[in-house]
Amino acid sequence: MKQIYVIEHLEKEVYPWCLMEYNSISKIVGQSNLWFTNIKQNSKAVRELKKYGKVIEKSVKDLDLKNSCVLDPEAKQTLVPKSAKKFKYFIFGGILGDYPPKKRTKKELTKFVKGKERNLGKKQFSTDNAVFVVHEITRGKALNKMEFKNKLIIKINNIESVILPYYYPIVNGKPRISKELLALIKC
Ligand SMILES: C[S@@+](CC[C@H](N)C(=O)[O-])C[C@H]1O[C@@H](n2cnc3c(N)ncnc32)[C@H](O)[C@@H]1O
Repeated sequence: MKQIYVIEHLEKEVYPWCLMEYNSISKIVGQSNLWFTNIKQNSKAVRELKKYGKVIEKSVKDLDLKNSCVLDPEAKQTLVPKSAKKFKYFIFGGILGDYPPKKRTKKELTKFVKGKERNLGKKQFSTDNAVFVVHEITRGKALNKMEFKNKLIIKINNIESVILPYYYPIVNGKPRISKELLALIKC
C-alpha cells in the first residue's frame, strides 16, 4: 500500500525555516508520497512547495481521510512497526519547534481529525525528523532500536552558541540536521 505523509501547515506563513524542513521531508518520503495541506494558494511559497509534494488549499481537518494517524507527542500510544504498516495517511503538524512545547499539535490538529493518534515518545522532534522516524518505523525499525541525541549546541563563534532543545535521530553517527538549516542558524 502506498502511504501518504500529510503536513498540515499551521504557521502564519511558510517561513524559510519551514521550506527547508519541507524540502527535507520530500527527500525522505519522495514527492509523490507527500501532501501539504492548509496552504493559501496566493502564498509566495506555493511554487516552491509544488516541487516537494502536492499542495492543497483545504485543511486536512476537512478532507475526512480514512485510515489515518496523527503524530502527536501527547498521544497515549507509541507508533510501532506492526500498526505503522497498516496506516494509509500519516498526519504531522507543520509547526515550528517551541520550548517548552505548547501542545499545539493536540490543540490545533489532533482534536479535529478523526482517526488514530500516536506518539514517537515524549521528546519533541522537528517535523522533518518526526517524518524521518515514522518512515523508519514503517520499514520495521522500532523506536527503541533507534539512536537519538537530546539537544544540540551549535557554535556560532568563539563567544556565542545556539541551543536547539529538540530530539535528533542519529544517522551515520551524527544528529540529523540539514546543512541549509545550520547555515541559516549561523548567519
Ligand atoms: C516541532 S513539532 C511541534 C510540537 C509542538 N510543540 C507541540 O507541542 O505539539 C512538529 C510536529 O512533529 C511531530 N512530532 C514531533 N515530535 C513528536 C513526538 N514526540 N511524537 C509524535 N509526533 C511528534 C508532530 O506531528 C508535531 O506537530
